[in-house]
Amino acid sequence: MKIEGGNVLVTGANRGLGKAFVEELLARGAAMIHASGRDLESLETVSALDRDRIRPVALDVTDAVGIEALAADTPSLDVLINNAGVDCPVPVVGGGDMADLRRAMEVNYFGVLNMSRAFAPVLARSPSSAIINVGSMAGFIHVADNTGYSAAKAAQLMLSQGLRGELAGQGTRVMQVLPGFIDTDMGARFPMPKASARSIAAAVLDALDHGEDLILPDVFARMSYDAFVERPEAVMREPAAVIGALVQNLLAPQSQS
Ligand SMILES: NC(=O)c1ccc[n+]([C@@H]2O[C@H](COP(=O)([O-])OP(=O)(O)OC[C@H]3O[C@@H](n4cnc5c(N)ncnc54)[C@H](OP(=O)(O)O)[C@@H]3O)[C@@H](O)[C@H]2O)c1
Repeated sequence: MKIEGGNVLVTGANRGLGKAFVEELLARGAAMIHASGRDLESLETVSALDRDRIRPVALDVTDAVGIEALAADTPSLDVLINNAGVDCPVPVVGGGDMADLRRAMEVNYFGVLNMSRAFAPVLARSPSSAIINVGSMAGFIHVADNTGYSAAKAAQLMLSQGLRGELAGQGTRVMQVLPGFIDTDMGARFPMPKASARSIAAAVLDALDHGEDLILPDVFARMSYDAFVERPEAVMREPAAVIGALVQNLLAPQSQS
């Protein structure tokens, strides 16, 4: 499937990976990009990249009513990129705010669910369509101090599998992206080498071209996935030790290519 000439909607398009998706979609010849963010003002820099091909849209992915209205106002769509996400670095017990833990699930899981339900009928009208869900390697290996985030991304992973089965009949592919650490605001607190947002966006759109549905778009994602497949018990019992060893390997010179 090619992006050239297609209509694409990106959530969380105002910064970070979402903005990189918009830049990469423009470079690959998308005809129309619905760039959504929580407020129009935050989308100004992105909109200025190409005012003819970018439609800025105010949208909170937790607002199911607003999402339904947007879907009704979108006559055609080929690709939906569920990119918006929030981190959740609070403890589950001992004072972590329940509102933060719920928000992680509302944005990272229910946000993707809301968007997919509302836009599935729009995507069904396209001769070739896809939903791209941006998850995280944290969805299959728990990341320390980020249980709410890992739990929500794990839920998203299962949602993608369910959607893939439900939407196969209408010809909509469902792709799951499981990145490692990315050089964005969200990734800033992690002191390790990170992939650039643009390289992740490019890898995802390459995978769309090539028909791949499970996308491990960077070296840390691939190392993590290999660990999960090869040592599932260690991942379940001691995720922090597994991630620590992976980071050490990442820092080794031979891993950088
Ligand atoms: N950075 C990493 O290391 C990393 C690693 C793996 C996966 N990811 C995933 O990659 C995706 C993009 O993250 P990022 O690194 O670009 O993070 P980011 O720089 O923090 O950007 C997050 C984006 O999500 C938007 N957003 C948050 N809550 C929203 C809501 N309720 N409705 C609509 N938009 C909302 C933000 O909008 P505002 O500007 O309004 O807040 C922002 O545009 C996320 O799904 C994240 O989980 C990131």
